Amino acid sequence: MGEIDVEELDLASATEADLRALFDLQVVWWTTAMPARELPDFNGWVQRLRVPDVHWGLPRFAVARDNGLIIGYASGYLPATENTHLVTGVVVVNERWRGRGVGSSLLCFGLRLANRETAEASWVPGGGAGEQWALRRGFAVANALTLQDLVLTDPLPEVGEVPSGYRLAQWTGRAPDDLLDAYVDALSAMNDQPLGDRSVNPFTYSRERVRQEEDELLAGGVDVWVVLALHGDEAAGVTVMHRSLARPSVGHQRHTGVLSAHRGKGLGRLIKAQLLRGLTGIEIVETETDSTNEHMRRINHSLGYTDRLVTVDLSARVADLKL
Ligand SMILES: CC(C)(COP(=O)(O)OP(=O)(O)OC[C@H]1O[C@@H](n2cnc3c(N)ncnc32)[C@H](O)[C@@H]1OP(=O)(O)O)[C@@H](O)C(=O)NCCC(=O)NCCS
Repeated sequence: MGEIDVEELDLASATEADLRALFDLQVVWWTTAMPARELPDFNGWVQRLRVPDVHWGLPRFAVARDNGLIIGYASGYLPATENTHLVTGVVVVNERWRGRGVGSSLLCFGLRLANRETAEASWVPGGGAGEQWALRRGFAVANALTLQDLVLTDPLPEVGEVPSGYRLAQWTGRAPDDLLDAYVDALSAMNDQPLGDRSVNPFTYSRERVRQEEDELLAGGVDVWVVLALHGDEAAGVTVMHRSLARPSVGHQRHTGVLSAHRGKGLGRLIKAQLLRGLTGIEIVETETDSTNEHMRRINHSLGYTDRLVTVDLSARVADLKL
């Protein structure tokens, strides 16, 4: 084996060959964890990667090279304004180069670069070798997520009757101005979702944050569908779907939240069912829910979702890791 070098990779200036190597590694990693029903497209993936998440920002990458060829990476999000104690990411090494210390070097390098107090890894298949590797280095399992998907077929699930006193609003792209405040309030209802022992503090939403996110998603070619439930003019619940150019036939069902005063009335299921009716060009919907979140998992099952994979999130104080 030649000399293995580890260095930061700036995606904005990365060569096409490096981006392709990174893409190939990510695709293998995702598909070994959960065989995809639609593989991502390289150009769409590049474009999606350049859209910052409103809370988490853009991912940073460190790569390991053997004779210039990328054979492993560590990726990490370093939130800039809230949760600044935290880096969350993953380490992936090409199967043929495993067991030679490459993963450990990447972890060490990435954590030094990140310089954060707490490190978390997300979406690691439960019970697999990657989880064991992280546990041996001092990470602990913080929670488990169940990944579910729904193949859209006719007829779509019934929406049912909107309970009296409530109404639904629905849009794609940007929220109408007159609904923006209610939308911000509804998104804040996500803050009591179970997160197990993760050390993520709830992110806050504001009118400016929401508009910023809408602009960034639009610029990155990400389609957004929203259903908002209102009680009078007040927010009662919300659900959001994204679709990126990376996999145009796959919708990603993101936040669904019902404000506590409005729970127990079937609104969660109702808004998710309504959302499915407005989609165009989507054949499969994917979502992930904390495995202890019985309500949401039951709602998803009633809409026809099936459980595909359980992943774990791992967490550690960096100072306690054995590096
Ligand atoms: C987890 C993963 C990143 C490990 O990559 P790797 O390059 O094999 O990692 P390492 O070589 O550093 O460690 C693997 C083993 O090789 C051993 N090893 C062999 N030679 C070594 C050397 N020269 N230096 C250090 N460790 C060495 C390590 O001790 C380690 O054994 P241990 O876990 O019992 O301590 C890799 O399996 C992977 O890509 N999995 C899929 C992604 C994943 O699950 N990531 C989750 C973690 S965030």
